[in-house]
Amino acid sequence: MLSHKINRTDNGMLGIIGGSGFDRFDELKINRRLECATPYGAPSAPLVFGKLRGREMVFLPRHATDHSIAPHRINYRANLWALHAQGVRHIIAISTVGGISAAMVAGGLVVPDQIIDYTHGREGTFFDGVDLPLQHIDFTRPFCTGLRQQLLKAGSVAGFELLDGATYGATQGPRLETAAEINRLERDGSHIVGMTGMPEAVLARELGICYAMLAVVVNPAAGRAGLAKEISLTEIQTVAETAMQKVRQVIGALEVNHGH
Ligand code: HPA
Repeated sequence: MLSHKINRTDNGMLGIIGGSGFDRFDELKINRRLECATPYGAPSAPLVFGKLRGREMVFLPRHATDHSIAPHRINYRANLWALHAQGVRHIIAISTVGGISAAMVAGGLVVPDQIIDYTHGREGTFFDGVDLPLQHIDFTRPFCTGLRQQLLKAGSVAGFELLDGATYGATQGPRLETAAEINRLERDGSHIVGMTGMPEAVLARELGICYAMLAVVVNPAAGRAGLAKEISLTEIQTVAETAMQKVRQVIGALEVNHGH
């Protein structure tokens, strides 16, 4: 049986979890791929190890390489466990989102600082008292402050304006929201909306991984471009393709210094 023992070594590698529009990491000079087993099952895809500008990185596409796994079916625990077991202690999560507040325009890049969780029925903890003893962790600030700053700095080095701070509302999907749901999310204080930030962020925190998100606004959230306008998936794809080029440059400009 696979052990639930938490590995404590840090090998200095930066983990990149890719989302929609970032299922492959072609810039990475790949040296190996690893199929992993974890006590929670297999991660979304084999881990891809490589170097970018001399820096060791591990890449994992959360929806699988062929983008086949729906947000509610992603095995978040296996994904985080597999990266952690390889010694990854810093993760940048790339996520596409809908823009709710006026500043969150399509094509924009945002580094969120808060989360509201609207998901349900997902395996959202390692500490459920079955495999690992019950523990209540602090989650006041769900994203790693140091890594957020590194991302913002990388953005300015790469020449892009990254918005500093936003509340990410995590919805269940895979359907998009109704206009009324988006109004409610806004009243609650969400500025952007996506489907995968939870439980990914909390599982990282449970394992002591420093986790920050680079969110890419790919559409105005439901109703935000006028009630008559439906969200176009083709438009989303076009915006995502262009914006992901920027994301790749930001990652290339990262200088991760370890420590939180
Ligand atoms: N809602 C939820 N998730 C999303 C959206 C959206 O409008 N766009 C991209 N991911």
